[in-house]
Amino acid sequence: MTIRRISSEERLTASFPLLGYAFEHSPGTADRVEELRGYLPYNEGNVTLAAEENGTAVAVASAIPMRQNIRGAVVPMAGIAGVATHPLARRQGHVRRVLTRLLGEMRDEGFVATALYPFRPSFYERFGYVGFPMPRTVTVAPADLASFLRLDLPGEITWQRIKDGYDSYRAFTQRFLAERHGFAVFPDFRAARQRDRNEEWLITAVVDGETVAAVPYRISGHAQDLVAGDLLATDPVARALVLQFFARHVDQVERITMTVAADENPELWGTDLAAHTEAKIHFPGSSAPMARILSMPALTGIDAGPGRLTVEVVDDPFIAGSYLLDGESGRLEVTPTDSPATATLTAAGISALVYGVLDPVEVVLRGFGAIPDAAAATLRSLFPRRTPNLFAAF
Ligand SMILES: CC(C)(COP(=O)(O)OP(=O)(O)OC[C@H]1O[C@@H](n2cnc3c(N)ncnc32)[C@H](O)[C@@H]1OP(=O)(O)O)[C@@H](O)C(=O)NCCC(=O)NCCS
Repeated sequence: MTIRRISSEERLTASFPLLGYAFEHSPGTADRVEELRGYLPYNEGNVTLAAEENGTAVAVASAIPMRQNIRGAVVPMAGIAGVATHPLARRQGHVRRVLTRLLGEMRDEGFVATALYPFRPSFYERFGYVGFPMPRTVTVAPADLASFLRLDLPGEITWQRIKDGYDSYRAFTQRFLAERHGFAVFPDFRAARQRDRNEEWLITAVVDGETVAAVPYRISGHAQDLVAGDLLATDPVARALVLQFFARHVDQVERITMTVAADENPELWGTDLAAHTEAKIHFPGSSAPMARILSMPALTGIDAGPGRLTVEVVDDPFIAGSYLLDGESGRLEVTPTDSPATATLTAAGISALVYGVLDPVEVVLRGFGAIPDAAAATLRSLFPRRTPNLFAAF
């Protein structure tokens, strides 16, 4: 078995057929080569590795060169996608080897973190990934948004096809990238797919000439659903402008659904607002994202609370070693060291603390490290809990 990086054109014969079998209905009837050729530009800058036996790809995995905000710093992040093994070649360790190689290559190219949507978290936990909170899907009847109709709000809504509003939407997501912990965006070549498919409407809320909210959506049919994507709004007024617009669909649709971050509370948006807020996890169909750190020294500069200690990261091919973590300046400084460590962490353990998804006590409970009480207090201060919202879905 050999592993190699495949070219863009080779995706047509090496990776797309394995991915088609793994993720689509099959066997397909039509000759899809031309259709698949149309996907190539959106994969152009990805790194795709294939494990080959006798010149035939039996397992593939790709990394999308993305960017992510980690506690205020925007870093290169490898979004892992398109992981599949031929049905006759499964359970032979192919993906374990391909993924280990891929993560190593991405780390060597300067990627500080990696994220993915797991088919089963336990599989990726062994690669050092830790779970993020699941975004919520909110479903409301438009009549329950009636109170927003009476609000006198500043600003205005622009309404257009996503193709026409794409540039301003993309710029708005870049603003969230700069400001929101955990937020990640695609590279241009991949993000453009949303523009080119042009399957959504886009509303944008603008106050004093500045975009403050944007939501893509579609309508499934008369008396059916208005299905919105992520509700991205900079503040409550921006959110109210969007909800006011949606409320005007009371005689058109039965339900409005939208995606919100895990720390949003739709029940507090208004009085008598009957909202169904759901985070449904099931495998392999609907999973919360996972992420991990690929470089410790590159975390220098992220926001940190006061504290200073040495941790040892163990059992990991990418970040094993001892590091002095110092947050006294308000920004983290990470220095490799030979000094004795006061806490031992797996890659999932340090990733959980950096992303703010687990308390040190939970890190120990989950089997991600050994942390004495004093070190737990320092780590809790260095890495206060945060709620990362990945946003990009891949
Ligand atoms: C999931 C899939 C990619 C695994 O590929 P594979 O080549 O069979 O995986 P490997 O043989 O390298 O398995 C690596 C390890 O994970 C374990 N593993 C494999 N499938 C697993 C599963 N469904 N649940 C938990 N662990 C699993 C293996 O036992 C192995 O452990 P080991 O190294 O201790 O022996 C493959 O089954 C597949 O293509 N599935 C359909 C598509 C899919 O779900 N892709 C993943 C999208 S995120």
